Amino acid sequence: MKIDGTPYRAIWLDQDGWSVRIIDQTKLPWSFEILRLTTLEEAAHAIRAMLVRGAPLIGAAAAYGLCLGLRADPGTATLARGAELLMATRPTAVNLAWAIERMRVRLENLPPDRRVAAAYAEAAAIAEEDVACNAAIGRGGLELIVHAAAGRRVNILTHCNAGWLATVDWGTALAPIYMAHDHGVDVHVYVDETRPRNQGAALTAWELGKHGVAHTLIADNAGGHLMQRGKVDLVIVGADRVTRAGDVANKIGTYLKALAARDAGVPFWVAVPSSTIDWTIRDGIAAIPIEERAASEVTMVTGRALDGSIATVRLCPKETPAANPAFDVTPARLVSGFITERGRCAASEGGLLSLFPEHK
Ligand code: MRU
Repeated sequence: MKIDGTPYRAIWLDQDGWSVRIIDQTKLPWSFEILRLTTLEEAAHAIRAMLVRGAPLIGAAAAYGLCLGLRADPGTATLARGAELLMATRPTAVNLAWAIERMRVRLENLPPDRRVAAAYAEAAAIAEEDVACNAAIGRGGLELIVHAAAGRRVNILTHCNAGWLATVDWGTALAPIYMAHDHGVDVHVYVDETRPRNQGAALTAWELGKHGVAHTLIADNAGGHLMQRGKVDLVIVGADRVTRAGDVANKIGTYLKALAARDAGVPFWVAVPSSTIDWTIRDGIAAIPIEERAASEVTMVTGRALDGSIATVRLCPKETPAANPAFDVTPARLVSGFITERGRCAASEGGLLSLFPEHK
C-alpha cells in the first residue's frame, strides 16, 4: 500500500539481498521508522516486542528470521534452535507455527550448503503468497461491501489492526475496505481504539488516513451502542487462529463485538487467510493458547503530549494490579462467515471444508 504516494510493504528484503527491512510499528503513528534486521535474535525480538505484529506478518518475519540465522550458520542445530526461539515469541497466532513448520519441512533434509538460498526462496514465497491471499480476500469481501452499500454510504466496524501493517500487504479485514474505496464505494470505518495497546488508534487510523478512507475512532466500549442504533452495517475483523470448527481467536475484545453484533442483527465477518486456520483443533476455548502480556500495557499508555513530546503515563494508582490477556475466542456460532482467499463460507467445519477439501 502507499504512504504519501510511495508503495510499501510491512516487511521486505533489503537491497543488499539478505538483511530484512521492517517498519517499527511501536513508533507509529508518531514517527515512521524503518529498521534493518540482520540476525535471528533481532527478528525474534522484533516479533516478541511487537515491532512487527499481526498474525500473517509475524509468520513472514519468522521465516525471514530463520533465513538470517541460517546465513550465520546453516547447520541443523541452528534450524532447530531458530525454530524454537521464534516459536516462543508469541503463542496465539498460528501463522507463526505454520511458517516455521513450512520452513523446517523445506530445509531440514537439504545439505547445509543449499539451505540459505532455499530458505530465502521459501520466505519470499511465504511473503508473496500472503500478498496474493489478502488480495483475494479483498475481492471476496468487496462483494459483501457492495451488497451492503446498495448505492449509499456503508459503515463498517473493525477491531485492532488487520490492515496491511498486520500482513505483508493489503491486510485481511481491511483489504475489502481498501478495494471498496478504490472502486468508488462510499465506505466509512468505525475504528475501535483496541486497548490496551491501541492498535486501532495508532495503526488502523493511520493506515486508513494514509489511503484516504473515511473513518472515525471510537472507544472500545462504543461499538455495542452504535450497532444498537443501526449505525453499523457490517463488522469485519481479522483472526490470529481459527479452529477447524470455526472458532476465532482474535484481539481481546473481539468476542464482545461479536455478542453485540448478534444482539443487534449486524453481520459479523472474519477475514482469514488459510495460513491462520489451525486444522488440528476444534474447540477454540479449550485449545487455543491465549497470550498474557505485561500488566504495564494496561496500567500505562503512550501518546504525544501537547508539547509535542512522546510521553508514557500511568492511568491508575502505582500499586494497582492488572491482568492483560491479549486475545479472546469468539465461538463459531457468533460468526456470520469467513472471507478466505478461496471465497466466502459458513463459520463451521463443513463451511471451511467446502473451500479447503484437502483437510477432510
Ligand atoms: O497483538 P497483535 O497486534 O499482533 O494482534 C493482531 C490481531 O489481533 C489481528 O486482528 C490479527 O492478527 C489479524 S491480522 C491480519
